[in-house]
Amino acid sequence: MKRDFLHVSDFTTEEIWETLELAKWLKKKFRTGESYIPFAGKTLAMIFAKPSARTRVSFESGFFRLGGHALFLGPADIGIGKRESIADIARVLSRYNDMIMARLFDHDHILQLAEYASVPVINGLTDFNHPCQIMADILTIYEHRGNLDDLKIVYVGDGNNIVHSWFELAMRIPFNFTVACPENYDPSQALLEEARHAGRSDIVISHDVMGAVKNADVVYTDVWASMGQKQEAEDRRKVFREFQVNEELMAATGKFSLFMHCLPAERGVEVTNAVCDAPYSIIFDQAENRMHIQNAIMVKLMKSVS
Ligand code: CP
Ligand code: NVA
Repeated sequence: MKRDFLHVSDFTTEEIWETLELAKWLKKKFRTGESYIPFAGKTLAMIFAKPSARTRVSFESGFFRLGGHALFLGPADIGIGKRESIADIARVLSRYNDMIMARLFDHDHILQLAEYASVPVINGLTDFNHPCQIMADILTIYEHRGNLDDLKIVYVGDGNNIVHSWFELAMRIPFNFTVACPENYDPSQALLEEARHAGRSDIVISHDVMGAVKNADVVYTDVWASMGQKQEAEDRRKVFREFQVNEELMAATGKFSLFMHCLPAERGVEVTNAVCDAPYSIIFDQAENRMHIQNAIMVKLMKSVS
């Protein structure tokens, strides 16, 4: 039966570990230039209702390097949910392609796309979550530390789609996860409860950023105004001021901590240049790993239909 990847928690704990190991194996092949083309003759349809650099390029290059061809469908091309229904687009694209990846606004739309598509569907970000990003992030942490034992990740900023996918991972793999956000910018309470109920990870929500980062192995941030919220950017800059990741905040961890950001970064806003460019910043390793982890996810999903 075809499988989709719409949430990190769509994979079991075992599947997440298999995907991490597969990504490492694929990355090694990529680095040594050894050809591996399981997708020869296959196509991936990529639907983008929002802008993208990393997601578009990593999926397109990744699918091509695995032997296939990826098609870019931008907002003006198919007008998902506007020019025709999501169900019809799902059924039509499934007749031409072996897999679909979509970046959409409404999370319900990706659920519908997956329901009506007969080929695997991958979520390339919605307003609700960003599972491929968090899989790339945990791979990056795994590579840097060599293990995921006793890990404390502190996310600083808006309780947004990135946080939600960290919660999804926390349901499957144990780690300590703290979200330091301004009041009224908390992540989804329902998902928080679900993640806590899974009983694997300790999850803390804090409004005291300096206290929250103590002992963090990783400090992670994202933009304060996500795509679709840019009209709120000015107001948010005032509310989030204390939540900027700068050298003072990094020093408050009290230990050597890695800095992570899913990118794109608004340098000088949620993070300073000094932190972005510090030796402890692993933001470009994260970006690189988007391609390797997605390749692994696609190889796994393709097996569900072959
Ligand atoms: N991190 C990420 O998804 O980047 P893009 O928005 O550029 O795809
Ligand atoms: N929270 C950000 C993530 C971008 C990769 C957004 O949705 O715009």
